[in-house]
Amino acid sequence: MKFGAGNPDVRVAVVGYGYWGSKHMRVLSSMPGVQVTIVDEDPERIAEARRSYPSAESTLHLNDVVEQVDAVVVATPPTTHAAVALQALRCGRHALVEKPLATTVEDAQEMVEAAAAGGVHLMAGHTFEYNAAVWKLKEIIDSGELGRILYIDAARLSLGKYQRDCNVIWDLAPHDISIASFLLDEVPRTTWVWAKRHVGNRHADVAYLRLDFERAVTHAFVHVSWLDPCKVRRVTVVGERKMAVYDDMSDNERVRVYDIGVDPTDPDDHGESHAMPVSYRTGDIVSPFIQFNEPLLVQDSHFVECIRTGARPNTPGERGLDIVRVLAATDVAEATGRPAFVAGSIDPSGADLMRGVAS
Ligand SMILES: NC(=O)c1ccc[n+]([C@@H]2O[C@H](COP(=O)([O-])OP(=O)(O)OC[C@H]3O[C@@H](n4cnc5c(N)ncnc54)[C@H](O)[C@@H]3O)[C@@H](O)[C@H]2O)c1
Repeated sequence: MKFGAGNPDVRVAVVGYGYWGSKHMRVLSSMPGVQVTIVDEDPERIAEARRSYPSAESTLHLNDVVEQVDAVVVATPPTTHAAVALQALRCGRHALVEKPLATTVEDAQEMVEAAAAGGVHLMAGHTFEYNAAVWKLKEIIDSGELGRILYIDAARLSLGKYQRDCNVIWDLAPHDISIASFLLDEVPRTTWVWAKRHVGNRHADVAYLRLDFERAVTHAFVHVSWLDPCKVRRVTVVGERKMAVYDDMSDNERVRVYDIGVDPTDPDDHGESHAMPVSYRTGDIVSPFIQFNEPLLVQDSHFVECIRTGARPNTPGERGLDIVRVLAATDVAEATGRPAFVAGSIDPSGADLMRGVAS
């Protein structure tokens, strides 16, 4: 089939034309051969969509258009993801679902099963796994330049958009959990949580997580907040040899590699000696060139390409389910005040809870 504006070969409904759905609409409507329909249950949002995209079809209900499209992009609030996506998947439509894939493990599992049963793609909208700076960071880690990874630290802070239907962990931490899991090629096995609500009476607005990765024998600390005066979007990877920082707020030095480190002066010293316990190394700070494309455009182009070619998405529903499992474990950890195993991890007895990971 010939692709072109007058001859669309992929028809997509963007469900939820809010803050983020409008960005999906912008990138999808820029793609040759893609025809986009807007769905939002709020008439005011539909009126706004018609002003911005007068030639695009729009409607209040997915029912009206689900039979006429090939795929949906679900950009509604998290608690509605499962219902909207399942409606589309059960009609044999591909679905790209925003993070978090769902708000329960059971819902996420049902979505994965529905996609498999229907022979269609379910893709998780893990935008940062389509981000060239994150790819560069992974390339640096995999090259061994940093040495053994001691820990990862991630901060995602600002005076953020308080969500009605989830806490700050479910809203913001999917990004950092997916980044850390992508960088280390594994999903964390255990999570620890400190979270607190400071404003309103619904959900925690500030949280600190610790994620333990078994194979990599390391951990990630994640700080997420809707209540911080400074906008911070930063991932630091501390290696034994060097350290790397990905700062998403930087215009032209998103990734920096610091040739610095700390070594124990006497590895056999167990605290008795009065000598300085460590020595410091300092060297160059290097910022590699990164060819940058808008991650949402890269992600949505990949979704369209998977529809066209039948290729499996790089972030399939199973990947979204993995992250939902970690998020569900954060709920348990928050409620119990104890570390929680991620469902599907190897030893739920907790007998070897922290084996190999320095606490
Ligand atoms: N990947 C990212 O970086 C990123 C960034 C922001 C938001 N998000 C995700 O995008 C999703 C939307 O977030 P937002 O900030 O745009 O929210 P929003 O409240 O601004 O927009 C949600 C829209 O969905 C509509 N809606 C709700 N239920 C609906 C339904 N059943 N059918 C049709 N329309 C419905 C609402 O009327 C609203 O216009 C969330 O899942 C969020 O986690 C992702």
